[in-house]
Amino acid sequence: MSIKLRKYDILKDFTAVGEFLIENYQPDNRDGNFPEPAWEYMHGHPWLDEKSLDKIGVWEDSGRIVGVVHYEHKLGEAFFEIHPRYTHLKPEMLEHAEKYLYGETENGQKYIKAFINDFDKEFEALVKSRGYEKDDTLARLMSQLKMTQPFSPVIPLPDGFLLKSLAEDNDLAKIDRALWRGFNHGDEPPEIDFEGRKKQQSVPNFRKDLNIIIVAPDGNYVAYAGTWFEATNRFAYVEPVATDPDYRRMGLGKAAVLEGVRRCGELGATVAYVGNVLPFYLSMGFKKIFTCNCWIKYLDAR
Ligand SMILES: CC(C)(COP(=O)(O)OP(=O)(O)OC[C@H]1O[C@@H](n2cnc3c(N)ncnc32)[C@H](O)[C@@H]1OP(=O)(O)O)[C@@H](O)C(=O)NCCC(=O)NCCS
Repeated sequence: MSIKLRKYDILKDFTAVGEFLIENYQPDNRDGNFPEPAWEYMHGHPWLDEKSLDKIGVWEDSGRIVGVVHYEHKLGEAFFEIHPRYTHLKPEMLEHAEKYLYGETENGQKYIKAFINDFDKEFEALVKSRGYEKDDTLARLMSQLKMTQPFSPVIPLPDGFLLKSLAEDNDLAKIDRALWRGFNHGDEPPEIDFEGRKKQQSVPNFRKDLNIIIVAPDGNYVAYAGTWFEATNRFAYVEPVATDPDYRRMGLGKAAVLEGVRRCGELGATVAYVGNVLPFYLSMGFKKIFTCNCWIKYLDAR
């Protein structure tokens, strides 16, 4: 064994880490790693801090990736992707996160938020022993929908609304507006982020036909559901999902999600994942499978 730690190099590692996640996936996401589409979504996200990507740590054994510690959007967060035979790397990975991935508060205090799955008792004990404290407000919850075969839900829509995919209609300004309003950022986007929306669609497994929009009678997009199909392990992954505040509780979000998941089912998916346990998802049959807890440590307080 010759395990080496090196800096993440997006050009050569983006695909290799994706393959690592696919190879190590276990049913019900018991590997605890990011589903591969989440890794792609992270890289396509307009808010990703691209300047700090080389602070991400990659562990290799004889040239094969066995571990990655990374942030999702910005410094201050640490997520751990680990090969099941290399769990002994956890202390080293946590040290890397503290040394390179820390964020700073407005007062200049350094901190790190380590995201640890609740079934990983070994890692939980490690962060506790190093003085981390759990912040329940930042916990992330993973849910799963076991899809009936074939998966053919009834998908009703109110009169005058149309369900389409971006393969048929891909107006970036309307997408930007739908996601801006849908994620409660405010009334109208200050300016349309064309570059950010193009970037979101640029990652390899982004599929326009799996990104569903609901078009209102006035032509605006008022609900959006992105779905991803992971072909090797045959699962669907749902992200992002939002409905315009003026059009909520009309069944539009549910219609968009179910149609995206249904299309993934046609491609061979047997299960769908989403990183949330909102009643909205439970109403569709998603069930919580685990919590990824946020453990925070202020590093100056050592
Ligand atoms: C979550 C969200 C997408 C729901 O969209 P929506 O189009 O209003 O949802 P639907 O009308 O399709 O709701 C379907 C069912 O989900 C449940 N549901 C939806 N919103 C709910 C809420 N606020 N409270 C409780 N149950 C809710 C209900 O069972 C609902 O059926 P009902 O209206 O007949 O009772 C929307 O509230 C939203 O965009 N929120 C902000 C962004 C967000 O949180 N996205 C999800 C991140 S993963």
